Amino acid sequence: MQQSELIERIKELKIKRNAVILAHYYSRPEVQDIADFVGDSLGLSQEAVRQTADVIVFCGVHFMGESAAILCPDKTVLLPDIDATCPMADMVDVEGLKKEKEKHPNALVVCYVNSSAAIKAESYICCTSANAVEVVNSLEADEVIFVPDKNLAAYVEGRTDKKIIPWEGHCPTHHQILREDVLKMKEKHPEAKFIAHPECRPEVLELADHIASTRGMIMYAKNSPAQEFIIGTECGLLHGLHKAAPEKKYYCISEFACCPSMKMVNLEKVLVSLEKVQHIVTVPYDVRIRAKEALDRMLAIKIR
Ligand code: 13P
Ligand code: SF4
Repeated sequence: MQQSELIERIKELKIKRNAVILAHYYSRPEVQDIADFVGDSLGLSQEAVRQTADVIVFCGVHFMGESAAILCPDKTVLLPDIDATCPMADMVDVEGLKKEKEKHPNALVVCYVNSSAAIKAESYICCTSANAVEVVNSLEADEVIFVPDKNLAAYVEGRTDKKIIPWEGHCPTHHQILREDVLKMKEKHPEAKFIAHPECRPEVLELADHIASTRGMIMYAKNSPAQEFIIGTECGLLHGLHKAAPEKKYYCISEFACCPSMKMVNLEKVLVSLEKVQHIVTVPYDVRIRAKEALDRMLAIKIR
């Protein structure tokens, strides 16, 4: 089927099913273009809650669809590719986290949304890259177990007086971005600002002119007087950057800055998902209730 035909069919089925399409900034450009809303992890959770549609087609990875299913139990949440999982989310397990909680009985668990529903259910509060510092600083406790991203944990540690106990997880895509890559790109483009995502290694973040979530990076590039930017995150963000400020120049940090999981959803899979109403994301009731508490605590913190 031609792309234009695919898009037409998707539009028809969206009306028939009373569905909306939400997409993350790392998803394929053509998928972002048919979405009703494109955002970062925080924006996508907020948007899911605001939706009045019966069906949400989530173009992203599993934990994103799962968060929508937890927050919107009355809606049908579909993942066009059920195998699109985040490798970082799989780096923390419930048994290990329970042991860590026993070792640090006075600590509260902050879990990055890039985690399973079961991990969220074991956590006090969730955070995203957009609000991690505000979430940690909002807590009464002096000690925080931070799962699963050690790089985001280190970023937060530099911006809080609380003791951060990090989990040893990381995003393979951001972890592959090296200090040498940044130095090389800075030499090639001396006028460019380097903007980076906090999932990058600390030695990479040290070189950044600005650190923010995916949406924060787009807002910075759009509002900055600078005309050129080196992009320290997954290169899918270039599509959103070109749309937000097309007159500016963007340089992807490295050819390895690509998340294979985020590219698994394509237009064909979105169409099949709407046709067959698949794959429905479900979360067991007891897990959902506890995970929702952690997500609701996060959403109650207003940062934007
Ligand atoms: P944000 O969109 O919250 O910046 O997260 C990036 C990410 O890695 C999502 O998988
Ligand atoms: Fe997970 Fe990293 Fe891919 Fe985001 S970019 S989905 S954190 S592996």
